[in-house]
Amino acid sequence: MNKICLTLALILGVCFASNIKCTEKQKLARACTFEYEPVCGVKVDPSSNYIQSFSTYGNKCEACSEKGVEFYSSGECEKYPQDVVFCHPDAYLQPGCTRELNPVCGYFDESFQCQNSQCSSNYSNKCSACINKEISYYLQGFCK
Ligand SMILES: *[C@@H]1O[C@H](CO)[C@@H](O)[C@H](O)[C@H]1NC(C)=O
Repeated sequence: MNKICLTLALILGVCFASNIKCTEKQKLARACTFEYEPVCGVKVDPSSNYIQSFSTYGNKCEACSEKGVEFYSSGECEKYPQDVVFCHPDAYLQPGCTRELNPVCGYFDESFQCQNSQCSSNYSNKCSACINKEISYYLQGFCK
């Protein structure tokens, strides 16, 4: 499922696979084309992947060639909730998470078929949310 989605995403640009890491090549781009396909480019604090700042860029090239932008999410930042924290694209590679209880509400990316508008799920902490590849971002606290 994920592989199909990824392949489709690469070919057709559909599925909006959650968050996408900037490649080295993208980071070094000297010039970008001007098409408007906005993304939300995310800079992460060196001390923690969960401390972030982000802004909207006209396209992924513009986002990734900006110093400090590590990954991006599809669409304008404004389409996400205000206190959003995006899951780092590599977060699923973590060996595991602590059991610390500090609940977050994780939101599935668009590759996930939401059943009865259940597009989110409670997790005991941010790590437990982001270690799931389908979780695109979270908000602090239980889902409302
Ligand atoms: C998450 O937990 C809260 C509080 O226990 C509960 O009210 C809510 O229904 C849960 N939401 C989901 C999506 O499981």
